[in-house]
Amino acid sequence: MCGIVCYVGKKKAKPILLEGLKRLEYRGYDSAGLAVQDGNHIHCFRTTGKIIELEKKINDLDICGTTGIAHTRWATHGEPSEANAHPQMDQDENIFLIHNGIIENYHTLKKRLEKSGTVFRSETDTEVLAHLIALNFDGNLDEAVRKTMAQVEGTFGLAVIHRHKPGEVVVARRGSPLIIGIGKDENFAASDVAAMVRYTNKVIHLNDNELASLSDEGITISTAQAKTVERATETVEWQPEDAELNGFPHFMLKEIFEQPETIRNAIRGRLEPGEGVPKLGGIMPVWEKLKECRHVVIVACGTSYYAGCVGRYTFEKLTEIGVEVELASEFRYRKLNFPPNTFIIAISQSGETADTLAAIREAKRKGAHLMGIVNVVGSSISRETEAGIYCHAGPEIGVASTKIFISQLTILTLLALLLGRHQKLSLTEGVEAIKALSALPDQLKRVLAQDNYIQAVAEKYYRWNNWLFLGRKYGYPIAMEGALKLKEISYIHAEGYAAGEMKHGPIALINPEMPTVAIVPKDSMHEKMLNNIHEIKSRRGPVIAIATEGDEKIKEMADDVIEIPQTLDYLYPILCVVPCQLLAYHCARFLNREIDKPRNLAKSVTVE
Ligand code: F6R
Repeated sequence: MCGIVCYVGKKKAKPILLEGLKRLEYRGYDSAGLAVQDGNHIHCFRTTGKIIELEKKINDLDICGTTGIAHTRWATHGEPSEANAHPQMDQDENIFLIHNGIIENYHTLKKRLEKSGTVFRSETDTEVLAHLIALNFDGNLDEAVRKTMAQVEGTFGLAVIHRHKPGEVVVARRGSPLIIGIGKDENFAASDVAAMVRYTNKVIHLNDNELASLSDEGITISTAQAKTVERATETVEWQPEDAELNGFPHFMLKEIFEQPETIRNAIRGRLEPGEGVPKLGGIMPVWEKLKECRHVVIVACGTSYYAGCVGRYTFEKLTEIGVEVELASEFRYRKLNFPPNTFIIAISQSGETADTLAAIREAKRKGAHLMGIVNVVGSSISRETEAGIYCHAGPEIGVASTKIFISQLTILTLLALLLGRHQKLSLTEGVEAIKALSALPDQLKRVLAQDNYIQAVAEKYYRWNNWLFLGRKYGYPIAMEGALKLKEISYIHAEGYAAGEMKHGPIALINPEMPTVAIVPKDSMHEKMLNNIHEIKSRRGPVIAIATEGDEKIKEMADDVIEIPQTLDYLYPILCVVPCQLLAYHCARFLNREIDKPRNLAKSVTVE
């Protein structure tokens, strides 16, 4: 998705902006641009394609300016082209503006502006912002942006500089993230902390309908109604090296291998082994209501949604709470009707997914309590929910989510266990769960140690165009997540199915050229899964089984077996998903795909 980076300080802006753009590459984009102010001159460069193209264009130019804005664009209005890339300018080229989000009333505004003689040079909705700010400018850039905010509908994170206001960047936000980075004699702004973390870990999150003026001397924040805002800085936990490959060929592989540590980070300081009860400080604000709650709705998108689907089974096993799981994009348009004291749990890596945000806002209007399971600290979902639990998993750079899924599963288990211990679980059950959770990081290392074998399995099958992933109960969402991983990074068609549905249709697909990945750990569904595998083998379909160590029966039946250590039923998903991630990764690698930045995808989906 689009990315914003801004700098104002005493150093040359060009290298800082380019570096920041590279840190945002993982979010997905199709064109890029930057504008650097040198006195009363603004150098502006835009290009389609990769940031390296932009770099080539400006590498030999000595641009001394110390104030600038830069952008990666993911086309929504108008094809990816130089004219449509940002910065966008007004007619006199006084205003240079970059924008994330969508201006919904841009047609009306554009027509009005054209009638009064404004000539448009792009097909973007963003250009109207540049013209409006120019028209509203009478010496105060802050004020011009504020007036423009009142005229536009839709979402924006924007940054603007003016030819006659050297050393000032104004940023504003409504519905699209914008974070200010505080340095010494320099300040930054970006749509994602990854762009600034190399220079500062002190940040301030801008709220919706706020704007800020940045100079090398400081920042001032105000509301759309011109009320001054005082806000304390927060410290970001991420380290610059979190955003480096550290010897791995891809971020996806690095993040898969980080997963034992991801679990440790999710449980660190949160387990009371003797009591068999997790401690979750972030939910204390709602604890009294939550422990009485008997109805939870989990809302999320994509991989986070599949984590929620696993969570439903875990909650039902460990608590007395009834759980619904809904795709946020569907939930937001439903006619909602909850029992009293319903909790909505939004699950999101980025904390900025537009559909998930819209879903919780709608649920709040209807009186539900809101909680979040979020990775990005200070993100919109974390701020709009009453309470929540952070994943503490560090940045996830690969577009395909891996380590965050593991983290979400771990946290859902902790939450279910905490509630369960107050409802129906005995001390023995609590202690057993904590012991099994604590063993997961080392068990996961045993799964990762089979990487070479999994690569060999992928080599055997990567040319096959259609795959099936099957599971039951806890294994069903893992089948869906496995299929999603394979299709999104390798572009192989894959379906994730509940194995019990086979006879209702999908079994017709089985033939010797359709591999099935069967999620078949030794849990309560084991025997039934074996029956499904029999059915597939009788139709000569190849089967790759993900099975518990020492399961001799499965070795006789399946063509290839990837083993996982034994654990509790409801923890198997955490181990079973890792071979699926590695299979997808290696297939994509054999097919020479752009693994960290698959086509048409963006890391954070901040528009509907
Ligand atoms: C798939 C993937 C996406 C995200 C989805 C939700 O690998 O990463 O399906 O899970 O876009 O994003 P978040 O979790 O940021 O709300």
